[in-house]
Amino acid sequence: MERDGKLVVPNLQWFPGHMKKAQRLIEENLKLVDVVIELLDARVPMASANPMLAEIVKDKPRLVVLNKSDLADPVATKAWVSHFQALGLKAVAVDAQRGKGLKALVREAEELARPKAEKFVKAGGKPRAARCMILGIPNVGKSSLINRLAGAARTKTADKPGVTRAKQWVKIGSSLDLLDTPGILWPKFEDQEVGLRLAFTGAINDTIYDREAVVLLLLEVLRRSYAERLRERFKLPEELPEDPIELLTLIGRKRGCLVKGGEIDLEKAQNIVLQEFRSGRLGSVTLEMPPEGKKE
Ligand code: G4P
Repeated sequence: MERDGKLVVPNLQWFPGHMKKAQRLIEENLKLVDVVIELLDARVPMASANPMLAEIVKDKPRLVVLNKSDLADPVATKAWVSHFQALGLKAVAVDAQRGKGLKALVREAEELARPKAEKFVKAGGKPRAARCMILGIPNVGKSSLINRLAGAARTKTADKPGVTRAKQWVKIGSSLDLLDTPGILWPKFEDQEVGLRLAFTGAINDTIYDREAVVLLLLEVLRRSYAERLRERFKLPEELPEDPIELLTLIGRKRGCLVKGGEIDLEKAQNIVLQEFRSGRLGSVTLEMPPEGKKE
C-alpha cells in the first residue's frame, strides 16, 4: 500500500474506540495486581512495545520479558536485557513455547512485588500471594506464556452465555499468582518503520500490507547484518547482489521457483523467505538493537 510514495502498513483491527476499550479493560485489571509483566518480542523489542504502556501502568512495578528469544540473536538479547536494566527496569529473556527462562521470570516478579507485600504485612495485613498480569501487543506470545506458567494448575472455565466469567488466578510461584487473561495492547502502527518491523515478525496480518515491500526490506536487513546466514541457507555466492530484487530472484532460482518459460516466480520466493525467517530457519535474527549499538 503506497501513500506519497511511502509504504503504509495499517492495522485494520485497531481504531481509536478499540484502543480506548483495551485501555479501560487493562486499567480495571491493573487495580487487582501488584506487578505488571510487559511482554515484548525479543526480535523487535522496540516495535513490539506499546507507546502508552508507562502511562497506563503508572508507578506499578513492571518486569520486561523478552519472549521468542529462541528466534532472536542471543548477543542482541543480552544487549537488550542490559539496556533495560540500565534504564532501571528488571528484564528477562524467555521462550514461552518451550518454557525456557520461566523460573527467572517468576523469581524477578516475586522480587518486584516484595516491597509492597512487606509494607502490607508491617501495616498489620495478613500475608498473601502477590498478583501479576501479562500485557502485550497481539501475537507476542501472551497466551503461550500464560499456558506455560499455569501448566497443570490451569482450570478451564467454559464461556457460558449470560454468566460473567470470574477472574481466575493461577499460582505460578511460592508467593505469586497470575491473572489468567492477558491485557491486549495495540501496536505503534502509526509509525511506518515500526509497522514494517512488526510485519517482518508476522504480528501484523499478512493480508493488509504489501508483502513484496516487506520481503525486500527484510532481505536488505538480512544482507547487511546476517549475510552469512543468507548464503548458508540459500546456497548463495560470496558476493550478494545489493539490489534486493536481484537477491530475491537469485533465491527463487536456487529454490526452483519457476513459472512457465523459465521465469522466476517471485511471489513463491517471497513466501519462502518470509516463512523461513519467521520459523527461525534462517537462524536467530534480531531486527532492532538497543539505541547505543544499532545493528543496522
Ligand atoms: P498472543 O496471545 O500474544 O496473541 O500470542 P500467542 O501466545 O497466541 O502466540 C503467537 C504465536 O507465537 C504462536 O504461534 C505461538 O506458538 C508463538 N510463540 C509464542 N511464544 C513463542 C516463543 O517463545 N518462541 C517461538 N518460537 N514462538 C512463540 P502460531 O504460529 O500463531 O500458533 P501455533 O503454531 O503455536 O499454533
